[in-house]
Amino acid sequence: QQAQIPWKNSRGIDLADSVSVAPLLATMASSLDTTAVAGPIIGGERQTGHAMAVMSPTEVSRKVGSVIEASPAQVSDAMGRAHAAQPAWDTLGVDARAACLERAAELLEEQCESLMGLIVAEAGRTIDDALAEVREAVDFCRYYARQGRHTLRGEKSMPGPTGEDNQLSLHGRGVFLCVSPWNFPLAIFAGQVVAALMAGNSVLAKPAEQTPLIAMRAVQILHQAGVPAEVLHLLPGDGASVGGAAIADPRLAGVAFTGSTETARLINRQLAARDGAILPLIAETGGLNVMLVDSTALPEQVVDDVIDSAFQSAGQRCSALRVLYLQEDVADNIITMLSGAMAELKIGDPAALSTDIGPVIDLDARQMLERHEQRMRREAKLLAACELEDVHREGHFCAPQVYEIEKLSQLEREVFGPILHVIRYKVSDIPRIYDEINASGYGLTLGVHSRIDAFAREVFHATRIGNTYINRNMVGAVPGVNPFGGHGLSGTGPKAGGPNYLVRFATERTRTENV
Ligand code: SER
Repeated sequence: QQAQIPWKNSRGIDLADSVSVAPLLATMASSLDTTAVAGPIIGGERQTGHAMAVMSPTEVSRKVGSVIEASPAQVSDAMGRAHAAQPAWDTLGVDARAACLERAAELLEEQCESLMGLIVAEAGRTIDDALAEVREAVDFCRYYARQGRHTLRGEKSMPGPTGEDNQLSLHGRGVFLCVSPWNFPLAIFAGQVVAALMAGNSVLAKPAEQTPLIAMRAVQILHQAGVPAEVLHLLPGDGASVGGAAIADPRLAGVAFTGSTETARLINRQLAARDGAILPLIAETGGLNVMLVDSTALPEQVVDDVIDSAFQSAGQRCSALRVLYLQEDVADNIITMLSGAMAELKIGDPAALSTDIGPVIDLDARQMLERHEQRMRREAKLLAACELEDVHREGHFCAPQVYEIEKLSQLEREVFGPILHVIRYKVSDIPRIYDEINASGYGLTLGVHSRIDAFAREVFHATRIGNTYINRNMVGAVPGVNPFGGHGLSGTGPKAGGPNYLVRFATERTRTENV
């Protein structure tokens, strides 16, 4: 039935067409405003305060704009206003809220080029990634609007065998805190916020510390699209002070979080420690994502898909491939081809169309990856690596690398960057591999490359993974097409961009009347 509801993903731009790309690049560059200040926006008012520079990950001496962190008093002010405004937003109805999201989608599309320019500058994402990200944000708006009209509307009659009238309905919960990551600074930020809004909640949005400027643009677009200023507030700042103050506030009704497993655990503990209502946490976290390649797989396709899955976005996707299992008889050939393909990768300024891999987000990320690299150089075998050049010293670059390890448990946790690990296997190892994958506790994405359908199906059933991709890359889930999210150490669900997401942001009520 849902398949009959009209649904169209956002349009793209052909980046290989020099006629359409030239004006795109010009607008991306000319629209950057380094005087922009992302401060708290409370009740539509931009707050002033001590502004700190936001620097580019590509060139650490280049300023992208500034940020003003929200104070605990501002968090409390925003909470009070959001709390007061939520009932009217909820009773406004599904159609009026959906119309705001649909208008926001149009505005995002109209401003696509300047949003892309800011994503590239602030987050160091490539042009390709930035375009995909704006499209994903547009898709989230349209998909949740459509889904909201379908799922959240009115009352659903339940059976009344004893003569009673039973009606089930969905309502906003209250004030949602949305805490978003820097790796999809627009798409995930917008996805969380518009889902919470669509379900009838008001929102305090806390963007990642590294990417407040793009978040500010998204909030301005949502306000322009008709979301009342009292319903959506922007609170830049760090997780401990801004997130901590919001979570401690008794007026909070729920939290949506995307980021590390450690931070999700911390939020979970903070929620458990507070007095009063028991609140929902919708968390999307990391993964120790593997791909299994058997000897029937097509090597060229495997190599293309491994490059995309492990190195696109500098490996900074929670869906990214971390461990590649290669059946031993094809392993050497695939490693040789992979090494050849890696030599072609262009690492550099993400604002250049020819760049495949931009920087990692900041110094902490780079240093974590450098520590992992040192450990791998001691404990594992280096199979392939790209070279960094002098120009990369200006930014937080990390070269794509591939190491051979013995078993999955050698990696205790997700390594969030362009470092891939390879494990060779024999057919007789497969049951043990399923156990290893399940024992890791993560369950986000998994890839299989095989021309044996029964093997691919067996992998799907033997492992407990949120998103399994067969004979394709394992990144870039599309809203409304590949509902995305995991479980265990990878999150609490429900899946973003899927038909059950909005319901978790809502509360169910049943009205039973003796007639
Ligand atoms: N949804 C993204 C992807 O599929 C990851 O966050 O790559």
